Amino acid sequence: MNHQLEILIDIANEAFVVTHGTSFTTIEQGLIKGAVTGLSYKEIYKALPGAEKEANDLTLNAFQRSLAFQFWNQLTVALQNAGLLAPEEKIGLKNAREILERSHSAPQSVVVEVMGDRILWVGRQALMQQIVDELLGDARIVSLVGISGIGKTSLAARLTYFPQLNQRFPSFNIIRFAEKSPAEKKPADFAMIAQAILSDAATSNERDINAAISHVVQTLQDQAHLLILDMAEVAIQTNTLGQAQFRDRTLQQFVEAFVAADSLASALIFTSQLKLPTLLEGRYPTRMVEHRLRGLSSEEVSQLFTAWEIPIGPDHRDILQEYSDVYEGHPLALKVIAGEVRCEPYNGSLSTYWQDYGSELEQFRQWMADEQTQALPRLESYNCELTDLVRARLARTLDHLEQTDPLAHHLLCMGATYRPAVEREDWLALMMPEMQRGALIDAFQSLQRRFLLEPECLHTNQVLYRLHNLVRCTALDRLDQLEPWS
Ligand SMILES: Nc1ncnc2c1ncn2[C@@H]1O[C@H](COP(=O)(O)OP(=O)(O)OP(=O)(O)O)[C@@H](O)[C@H]1O
Ligand SMILES: [Mg+2]
Repeated sequence: MNHQLEILIDIANEAFVVTHGTSFTTIEQGLIKGAVTGLSYKEIYKALPGAEKEANDLTLNAFQRSLAFQFWNQLTVALQNAGLLAPEEKIGLKNAREILERSHSAPQSVVVEVMGDRILWVGRQALMQQIVDELLGDARIVSLVGISGIGKTSLAARLTYFPQLNQRFPSFNIIRFAEKSPAEKKPADFAMIAQAILSDAATSNERDINAAISHVVQTLQDQAHLLILDMAEVAIQTNTLGQAQFRDRTLQQFVEAFVAADSLASALIFTSQLKLPTLLEGRYPTRMVEHRLRGLSSEEVSQLFTAWEIPIGPDHRDILQEYSDVYEGHPLALKVIAGEVRCEPYNGSLSTYWQDYGSELEQFRQWMADEQTQALPRLESYNCELTDLVRARLARTLDHLEQTDPLAHHLLCMGATYRPAVEREDWLALMMPEMQRGALIDAFQSLQRRFLLEPECLHTNQVLYRLHNLVRCTALDRLDQLEPWS
């Protein structure tokens, strides 16, 4: 078989492995090979190892209607999940070659609508399949956590395009928590959920609220809803004991009742910059799953740029790798850069863009490589849009931190002077002896809950902590205005 056809079979096999967890069996391989080389079922059957050479109609019929039928169904789901097949399309003997050829030439991206915006989604295939499997299994709550712009909301939106999830959860809602103004005393987080599920007016008194919780949980037990609760960090606060809890007590009660309910048709996906509160003393570990999102791999970054119609030839690979490393695969930062490269005067030429900004990126890399350094070059010095979009999002995160946990904010800004990852004790030492150790440990844990610290595990079982490059730049900017802690 020629190399081109082998590539097509590999595409199908890769998608199959991601969705079903196994490669093609010998028979399935025979089927797909036969299909792309234009054989009939009879010819495919005869070429299978160990098949009867004089197959009768009955045997052939069974092969086609049972084995082959099941295989095409499974491959259809796999290709749909990978975004290589539209939801209404099916792959089969007749169109396999055409579909796989199309998949091979198509950019590996899927158009996903995220709260009104359309984005070209790439990557995170294995993680998505893992989450789909969890949602089809025991998991009732999946939390997608990580720093701002890392792709939590868009991942949640992408998941709703999986046919397996659409079948299992025919109804789907996305609810975005909003920051409350100080004038609004009681957050109405649960009321938003009740409204979406029951299409009812918000409840006012305690009795109504308990009844509403039962009613919503009951509805979610009976009807299969997939509910995305976006920006949960604004619905979470820390109590006086330093424990995280939902700011709306009713939301806390609802989520606990949801996790503890006997049987349930529905599931919740939270996206959050903050770790979710521990519920019911962690009694249902398999029902609550957390995924920490990190940046995209360099392969995915390359797919992202290709999806953005920025040609990536052999000359561009190193440049792209450089950007991918400095921004640690942060999709929003890289999207902003890709956006600039696409426009005048670069018109899609990454190497021309590099001529203008490459030296500053290298300077920045050098600056990061120095042990202890004065906060000099900044990422935004070479890229104005980056300031507007990515840094504005991160600055908002740190503003929020400053309001809700000033000591943690102070520690973070001071910790930005560390370039390499360091031990927890080094972080605490930044503000000792003027602060008590206990308070500093709380502040450190607060940063951990917010996923602002990147842990690095050494083979000695020792854990070191550092900031994501983008968070570090934002924090360094604030260092100048930081008053001494009093
Ligand atoms: N896998 C991806 N493929 C393509 N684009 C992506 C991907 N992940 C993220 N993006 C881009 O990055 C942007 C930021 O992602 P998103 O809004 O999902 O981040 P977030 O983690 O929800 O941030 P926040 O915490 O601020 O809400 C998206 O609008 C999208 O354009
Ligand atoms: Mg988001």
